[in-house]
Amino acid sequence: MAISRLDKLLSQSGERTRSEAAKLIRAGRVSVDGAAQTDPAYKTDAAESAVLLDGQRIEDTPYQYVMLHKPAGVVSASRDTKAETVMRFLPEAMRARRVMPVGRLDKDTTGLLLLTNDGRLSHRLLAPKTHVWKEYLVTVDGPLTTEHAAAFARGVQLGDFTALPAQLHIESASAAESRALVKLREGKYHQVKRMILKFGLQVTTLHRLAFGPLKLDIPPGEYRALDDMEIEALYLAAGMDRDGRHG
Ligand code: URA
Repeated sequence: MAISRLDKLLSQSGERTRSEAAKLIRAGRVSVDGAAQTDPAYKTDAAESAVLLDGQRIEDTPYQYVMLHKPAGVVSASRDTKAETVMRFLPEAMRARRVMPVGRLDKDTTGLLLLTNDGRLSHRLLAPKTHVWKEYLVTVDGPLTTEHAAAFARGVQLGDFTALPAQLHIESASAAESRALVKLREGKYHQVKRMILKFGLQVTTLHRLAFGPLKLDIPPGEYRALDDMEIEALYLAAGMDRDGRHG
């Protein structure tokens, strides 16, 4: 984990500047593993030691970015009064830092779900004009044809709106069941299911393989932190740079 100066650590969350942090440290309001530390340049590893400001724990980084392999049967919400949520797969420390799902997968949909407490990034990734590609493996209860693929490419008309041109790559097709890869740039409610329903077919399984630059590479029910390159790539996909300025 990263070793950092105390003043840097305290300013990382964005709640105070480096010089405000230094003042707090000099005032004796910060302790490391139970002992007061008054030197702003004191170096510590916040993941290993307890750094407290006025008795409150300071973490080593303000933001968390996590990929979860969502299993079926849980809802993509931070809380729900009736159903179990995806939060049960994350450790308590992460939940306490208000990590939340970026968008939703239906309860019966499996696959890649991004979670973060970086509200600006989340907001931008979900904005209707930000067109992040999502890739799904879909099974339907009947024959998919090249006509369906052509309709996807033109943009399927759904009651209240016309979906942006999308891709349907048929992997197998029979009268009883077909399998296809779907790639689309929107994330409207039940979008894939509604697009398929336009052809008189029903989705029987739906699994998200990719979200923008992220590719699912962990087993069901597991999560992992994103690496720096993945976070940079997400920012790029959202049209932002790491300082949050819109590109
Ligand atoms: N489209 C759907 O219909 N459901 C999902 O969960 C995701 C995309």
